Amino acid sequence: MVNALVLLENTEDQTVLHINPPENGLTFQGKIRVPGDKSISHRALMLGALASGTTEIEGLLVGEDPQSTAACFRKMGVKISDLNPEHVVVEGVGLGNLQEPTSVLDAGNSGTTLRLMLGILASHGDRFFAVTGDDSLRSRPMSRVVKPLQQMGAQIWGRKDNSLAPLAIQGQTLKPSHYQSPIASAQVKSCVLLAGLMTPGKTTVTEPHLSRDHSERMLRAFGAQVDVDAATCSVTVTGPATLTGQKVVVPGDISSAAFWLVAASIVPGSELVIENVGVNPTRVGILEALEMMNADIERLNEREVAGEPVADLKVRYAQLKACEIGGDIIPRLIDEVPILAVAAAFAEGTTVIKDAAELRVKESDRLAVMAKQLTDMGAKVIEHPDGMEITGGSPLNGAKLDSYTDHRIAMSLAIAAAVAKGTTTIARAEAASISYPNFFETLEEVCQTK
Ligand code: S3P
Repeated sequence: MVNALVLLENTEDQTVLHINPPENGLTFQGKIRVPGDKSISHRALMLGALASGTTEIEGLLVGEDPQSTAACFRKMGVKISDLNPEHVVVEGVGLGNLQEPTSVLDAGNSGTTLRLMLGILASHGDRFFAVTGDDSLRSRPMSRVVKPLQQMGAQIWGRKDNSLAPLAIQGQTLKPSHYQSPIASAQVKSCVLLAGLMTPGKTTVTEPHLSRDHSERMLRAFGAQVDVDAATCSVTVTGPATLTGQKVVVPGDISSAAFWLVAASIVPGSELVIENVGVNPTRVGILEALEMMNADIERLNEREVAGEPVADLKVRYAQLKACEIGGDIIPRLIDEVPILAVAAAFAEGTTVIKDAAELRVKESDRLAVMAKQLTDMGAKVIEHPDGMEITGGSPLNGAKLDSYTDHRIAMSLAIAAAVAKGTTTIARAEAASISYPNFFETLEEVCQTK
């Protein structure tokens, strides 16, 4: 692709993105859709695989992460049609009937694939599994899911006291337990609930703040008994469950919409409509934060689609104001902090992001990576162990940047680069295709030269 704003240069082992904003600046204009929600896509494939009967999925994210999930379950005897956003068919094998794979299950870059799958594998009796991932995933902490599974009697082995992939799992019948998670993590919660499906009795997870609840919603839709105690942030699944194949409609991913919400909010004259975005209350922290910052975002045509709230989002430029973000909003916007940091660089005053140490163990150390690279572009950023402070108003300049193979970093930096002065290069920009394969095409499409 060669033209004024975006140039993707494919070298032997990576794609270098060159962003060359027009001298007079640009605005963001148009009506777009974003790819399917990544969290819901993983869950639809997994529950479809475990259910009896056929699951049909509309709107699936065809990104590298869901491809990893599909590849793992295919290796365990599940028939899954080619992934496409229109219509995917999963022929479920029925709970407990996954085959022992004859080779290692590779989750690629996907923490959700590996952590959720561990709950499924550990409770699959008499079968042995080996799981691994890419360089990034093999350095990410797995003890957060290994520990609760061990509390249920699971047998799991791995490097560094069973805390790092590759991991080996000897599946067996587990015993129910009540796990008090020290972190608000939907991956931990979902792993334990999935292990509870095959475990006779009540398996409960309590978390310090409510994390995304897609698993709870979808498990119920597939027929499992799931009880939620909102007051204590506890969820209980009763096993053994019976799951029946369903029709799943995946809404657009609010984590992908977030790039456009911020882009239009920071450039005068911009107006974007993003259609069909999932607005589950456990995911809308980015809307709440941007609204606190004086953003102009309207939710239009609010509706419920297959058990998930959906809306069209209309965003117009507004002068953003700094705000403080921490506490229970963090799990509701955990994946949006990199792009929120870009928004903060354009807000009046100093934005404080705290209680977000979890960002250090995502696909990259997102606090360190964003703080360094926004600083390289001329922003005023102070990094803290659990967050950062960003003082807005310093103009951003083009710079030599790197995604660190983290999809959300690649896209956040691309937005920053499009509104900066001068040319930016972003190394390893191909990472965007983990969750948003056509991101750079859409960037080109919505940018209008002034
Ligand atoms: C996810 C949960 C979150 C999020 C990740 C997807 C999920 O991770 O960051 O991108 O689908 O359950 P944590 O559970 O580690 O917070």
